[in-house]
Amino acid sequence: MLLVLLSLAALCRSTTPGEPTIQCGSENGPSPEWMIQHNLTPGDLRDLQVGLAKTSVATEDYSILMNISWMLRADASIRLLKATKICVTGKNNFQSYTCVRCNYTEAFQSQTRPSGGKWTFSYVGFPVELSTLYFIGAHNIPNANMNEDSPSLSVNFTSPGCLDHIMKYKKKCIKAGSLWDPNITACKKNEKMVEVNFTTSPLGKTYMVLIQQNSVIGYSQVFEQNKTKRTSIAIQVTGESEGAVIQVTPYFPTCGTDCIRRKGTVVLCPKTVVPFPLDNNRSVLGGWLPLLLSLLLVATTVLVFGIYLMWRHEKIENPSLPTTMLLPLIKVLVVHPSEICFHHTVCYFTEFLQNNCRSEVILEKWQKKKIAEMGPVQWLTTQKKAADKVIFLLSNDVNTMCDDTCGHTEGAPTENSQDLFPLAFNLFCSDLSSQTHLHKYMVVYFRGADHRDNYSALHVCPKFHLMKDATALQTQLLRVTHATVGKGLQACHSSYSFL
Ligand SMILES: *[C@@H]1O[C@H](CO)[C@@H](O)[C@H](O)[C@H]1NC(C)=O
Ligand SMILES: *[C@@H]1O[C@H](CO)[C@@H](O)[C@H](O)[C@H]1NC(C)=O
Ligand SMILES: *[C@@H]1O[C@H](CO)[C@@H](O)[C@H](O)[C@H]1NC(C)=O
Ligand SMILES: *[C@@H]1O[C@H](CO)[C@@H](O)[C@H](O)[C@H]1NC(C)=O
Ligand SMILES: *[C@@H]1O[C@H](CO)[C@@H](O)[C@H](O)[C@H]1NC(C)=O
Ligand SMILES: *[C@@H]1O[C@H](CO)[C@@H](O)[C@H](O)[C@H]1NC(C)=O
Repeated sequence: MLLVLLSLAALCRSTTPGEPTIQCGSENGPSPEWMIQHNLTPGDLRDLQVGLAKTSVATEDYSILMNISWMLRADASIRLLKATKICVTGKNNFQSYTCVRCNYTEAFQSQTRPSGGKWTFSYVGFPVELSTLYFIGAHNIPNANMNEDSPSLSVNFTSPGCLDHIMKYKKKCIKAGSLWDPNITACKKNEKMVEVNFTTSPLGKTYMVLIQQNSVIGYSQVFEQNKTKRTSIAIQVTGESEGAVIQVTPYFPTCGTDCIRRKGTVVLCPKTVVPFPLDNNRSVLGGWLPLLLSLLLVATTVLVFGIYLMWRHEKIENPSLPTTMLLPLIKVLVVHPSEICFHHTVCYFTEFLQNNCRSEVILEKWQKKKIAEMGPVQWLTTQKKAADKVIFLLSNDVNTMCDDTCGHTEGAPTENSQDLFPLAFNLFCSDLSSQTHLHKYMVVYFRGADHRDNYSALHVCPKFHLMKDATALQTQLLRVTHATVGKGLQACHSSYSFL
């Protein structure tokens, strides 16, 4: 009985004539009311709020929109209110400006809702880009007369990035792996070994797994088919691994080195309890005994051999330690075509060399002033002489929107920069035909640059594809120290966390 009454009441409420709703449509120009003189106009809004809303256009194709809600002021001027206009300005790479006008379907009969509480409305619209600042302004219509102050309310809203629980449904985020659930589990097997399991993504096949305590204590690259598959790897560590952080960096085609990284924690592996047949009779134990004895023998041999190895290792390594600390830096001249994305490619690569290969990097971009003084040919010749290695960095990552300098700015970056790459290429070409000079040159391909370039003479140089050949590249650079200093063993260490 009560239920029937309640639903009847609900039915009545929803059909009450005096409940205005909104009807919104775009209105980018001035409102028609603006042209007319109004003696009385409604007051401003009481509150304006912005959130996100996800709408599904089709399965797996979501659009993320702004959910703008506002509250009306409970005063007598509400009777004059006809509509509310909302304008959104987005400040991304370019500025955008759009407005909607929401008409109230009825005139307001009361200052508050019949059920009590202030009048609130919300409008879902305006597509939202990632990490963008928006200015949202709203005012009531009819607005104030032309030369009067128009009461309006505005808020700023900065949209979140791909890690947000709603933004992650943006196509761009999905491609960068936002919906990928690696479900990382990792445990410490023993002092030297950590077992890491994670689920690979159909989006790509290359992953870098780093184990970090304060510094990197272990890493491994993982290559898998691009499909969802549980992978298990054992990684050697050089320090205490319990509680260490596991970072899995994927390299998907659309995001390259900027894909969403995931983290996990190393816990202790559960102790595997080998059931021992205690209650069995002697014949079973008799069967086990030879096996146990031979296992014991093997273990002893391994232990003795291990101790011997450690003793030898210490004998060899200890005297070389001070030399390692005093090793001079490897001078590396990096030349790259000007059209490759400086920040994403050159900076990452430079950081890699500096942080992991004890390299001092010489970059054209950092020496603009010197180049202007010396002239490009003289500069290149001098740098070539000074450098231990010359690396041609090639990439297919040609993007005009990512140019940014990584530290070391010298001279005006705005001055018209001549592309030094063809000049360097031609200048160094003569060396490429001579075996004695050839060892100085290397070609590094970044992000799947292919060989269909105009620099076929470079084919004689050792080639490295990052990040596939990162270790080989490190080894190659390491040889430089071998040649110049002799015992340079630790020139590269294994913490290329940028990759
Ligand atoms: C709102 O009202 C104005 C003025 O009456 C009209 O021009 C406009 O088309 C209306 N918009 C919607 C979405 O109904
Ligand atoms: C928009 O925000 C309002 C107020 O926070 C909320 O009541 C409404 O459910 C939201 N709409 C959507 C589609 O998320
Ligand atoms: C919005 O941001 C602009 C520029 O950052 C600032 O000048 C303004 O005060 C902000 N307004 C609000 C309401 O936070
Ligand atoms: C993550 O992996 C563990 C171990 O394989 C499994 O028990 C758990 O259900 C997985 N969680 C999710 C969310 O897939
Ligand atoms: C990883 O997977 C293997 C094989 O499925 C399993 O035996 C092991 O317990 C897992 N380890 C962790 C740390 O999840
Ligand atoms: C893996 O992805 C690449 C590029 O997206 C595609 O060309 C290839 O066919 C995919 N391989 C598999 C096994 O899905």
